Amino acid sequence: MDNENVRKKVMLSGIQPSGDLHLGNYLGAVKNWAALPDEFDCYYFMADLHTLTVRQDPKELRRRSTAQLAQYIACGLDPTRNTLFLQSHVHEHAELGWILNCYTMFGELSRMTQFKDKSAKNADNINGGLFTYPALMAADILLYQADFVPVGEDQKQHCELTRDIAVRFNNLYGETFKVPEPYIPKVGARIMSLSNPGSKMSKSDPQGCVFLMDKPEDLARKFKRAVTDSDTERCVRFDPENKPGVSNLMNIYSSVTGKDFAEIEKEFEGQGYGVFKPAVGEAVIEKLRPIREEAERMIADKAYLQGVYTDGAQRASAVARRTLRKVYKKIGLVEKPF
Ligand code: TRP
Repeated sequence: MDNENVRKKVMLSGIQPSGDLHLGNYLGAVKNWAALPDEFDCYYFMADLHTLTVRQDPKELRRRSTAQLAQYIACGLDPTRNTLFLQSHVHEHAELGWILNCYTMFGELSRMTQFKDKSAKNADNINGGLFTYPALMAADILLYQADFVPVGEDQKQHCELTRDIAVRFNNLYGETFKVPEPYIPKVGARIMSLSNPGSKMSKSDPQGCVFLMDKPEDLARKFKRAVTDSDTERCVRFDPENKPGVSNLMNIYSSVTGKDFAEIEKEFEGQGYGVFKPAVGEAVIEKLRPIREEAERMIADKAYLQGVYTDGAQRASAVARRTLRKVYKKIGLVEKPF
């Protein structure tokens, strides 16, 4: 995207517009993406087509698709330096998705753990899209000749399958797709639930989950109620094994203030959790305040957001179109004369 002689490596990730962003998404992922355009050509899209594999309320889906875009921008993804768009606006995704379905095996799709999990959770709606989801995801990635795909642990299997599909296609038709690699960032905090520090922060556990759009009073309450540990020393010390609750709060505090664990231990020396927990809450509130306010401002400014995703889709289409044309030609479809 930036006008440079050397082609930057391409970074691409999709995010399902299925809920508001939380502190784990922010500190563990998005915050670190903000600096990537220095080094990479970055594409991020709202995977609205993927979201349809689970039944959605149409009004809510529409609202969240742009609200989430606003939250990403507020977290530091600059739309002039990243290509930000909605998946459904670039029709090549659905088109290549279909083609790649024909190069993805029933057995491979059957082995996907996300399919098994989601089928168990949505037993009344095990639809074809849920099953072929990874072929569409492969299309998302391969259309842009992505070098790297920043994803969490849960998406690694889909990335592996994308590589297998790319290699299979390249072997049949000659070099067509870049074979992408998952990108596991060097930095990035793993944030656990406030109510259950044994599991990752997740929107399915709202009490333990800090949403970026939460009001300050809700944040204060969540931190006050955060689970600490039942050890007897009752002091602020980093020990994830024996003090997972306190260590998670220290991790959060460190991420939002930049202080290291030794400094934090010193700061709260001789003080109990009753002082520590509200202090972490306060630091988080102040860190999130400008993010929430900026996101709210953009959500109210529909024309601005529309400008961002229009521009993003146009830039994305230009790249996607080239790849799709190449694929159509290689597999024997007649070139469209108009
Ligand atoms: N499957 C991803 C998730 O649920 C979202 C996604 C869709 C994605 N297409 C993608 C991620 C392409 C990375 C690249 O989180």
